[in-house]
Amino acid sequence: MPKDTLTVVDNRTGRQYEIPIEHDTIAAADLAQIRTSEEGPGLRSFDVSLANTASCKSRITYLDGEKGVLRYRGYPIEELAERSSFLEAAYLIVKGELPSTSHFQMWRHNIKMHTIVHENVKRFIEGFRYDAHPMGILIGTVGALSTFYPDAKEIDSDVSRRVQVRRLIAKLPTIAACTYRHSLGLPYVAPNNELSYTGNFLSMLFKMTELKYRPDPILERALDVLFILHADHEQNCSTTTARVVGSAHADPYSVVAAAAAALSGPRHGGASESAVRMLHEIGSAANVPAFIESVKRGDRRLMGFGHRVYKNYDPRARIIKKIAYEVFEVTGRNPVIDVALELEKIALEDPYFVDRRLYPNVDFYSGTIYEAMGFPLAMFPVLFAIGRTAGWVAQWAEMLDFDERIARPRQMYLGHDLRSYVPLDQRDDSSELETEISGPY
Ligand code: ACO
Repeated sequence: MPKDTLTVVDNRTGRQYEIPIEHDTIAAADLAQIRTSEEGPGLRSFDVSLANTASCKSRITYLDGEKGVLRYRGYPIEELAERSSFLEAAYLIVKGELPSTSHFQMWRHNIKMHTIVHENVKRFIEGFRYDAHPMGILIGTVGALSTFYPDAKEIDSDVSRRVQVRRLIAKLPTIAACTYRHSLGLPYVAPNNELSYTGNFLSMLFKMTELKYRPDPILERALDVLFILHADHEQNCSTTTARVVGSAHADPYSVVAAAAAALSGPRHGGASESAVRMLHEIGSAANVPAFIESVKRGDRRLMGFGHRVYKNYDPRARIIKKIAYEVFEVTGRNPVIDVALELEKIALEDPYFVDRRLYPNVDFYSGTIYEAMGFPLAMFPVLFAIGRTAGWVAQWAEMLDFDERIARPRQMYLGHDLRSYVPLDQRDDSSELETEISGPY
């Protein structure tokens, strides 16, 4: 009769242990009983990038990287992208179920109540240089929101949690639009709650002197679907950051600011910006083979390719590729798409990429759409952050609901053994000096 346990023999001691298996996972704490003496912490697992470690229990997003499956609360991403809206998907992710009509109306109303930001937040943004990276402004400004809402510290209060979740989902587009307008020296545009969540965002970005800004419905829908596709992705780098920071019981604005900081990196949400910069640098489809060779030599990475979890195809990339053509019908074709298509074609046939199971990820084509819609490259990760905020706040609240302990991993210590302090005048002074590094200030 098969049992849901793992039998381990420690060859150092000859002792045998039986460890329970739940959902194909063993509890790392169960390894601690495996020890060679009564002292010391016992056996640990080593997993630097948490590549094979379940760091939490979650009911939000299901992902099967081998099969290219992604579901929010059980619903396939393809269906949500086809039939849902970002606000509805955000409700689903945060609350666990699709809303009824009246619940959805209330949710939309409650989000819209919070789209305005305090005037001091705008002044705060004005303090940044005109060429400041919008992601840096976003991270700083979201973190600063905690000083505007001291009640956010009450993380055990259900009412406080709900209001911070609404504020965060509502204010991210406003702050993002302010960062864009600030870079151009344009006045900020007040939210227009007659428009949809995404339509209002486009208005706050692009409204000029017209009395009423009406977003193009195809572009509005395309951006809304991109927000749905980015809304959650289980325990990725930024979401793990959100859970770790939240586990210290920091307020949710600090949690989201920390998560956004993780997202900004080119290995994560910064990849769409880097991918389009790369496509421009390659310039034309004819230059693709030489570029691929430089990637294979290890000179650089093919940005927007590869994923820690997807080893088949990123299902979001497939949807985004289709949206790209719908957007180009309105905006005109972004010529970098031809470079992207040629890169994908060659890479998917090349043994280097095939053997390593490297495929286009969500960020490979999204940037071509954003660029066609008129967004500067530096805004791309900010757009990602707007969608992902729904996931970050849902994962933060779930972590609190599960009453998780503070995140506190262990290490393999490789440093010196005990040694005694040596006075300054008795230390070896023969090694090379660090030189001064020139730069501003
Ligand atoms: N281009 C070229 N080679 C690559 C790439 C790439 N984009 N990605 C991985 N590889 C190679 C590595 O060099 C390595 O080869 P080796 O075994 O010969 O050393 C092998 O594939 C495995 O790569 P790892 O770095 O170990 O894979 P990991 O799972 O740690 O990294 C990551 C995943 C960060 C996404 C990586 O694929 C990458 O840097 N991609 C480009 C950046 C990117 O697009 N990031 C967005 C990811 S999606 C998201 O966060 C929203």
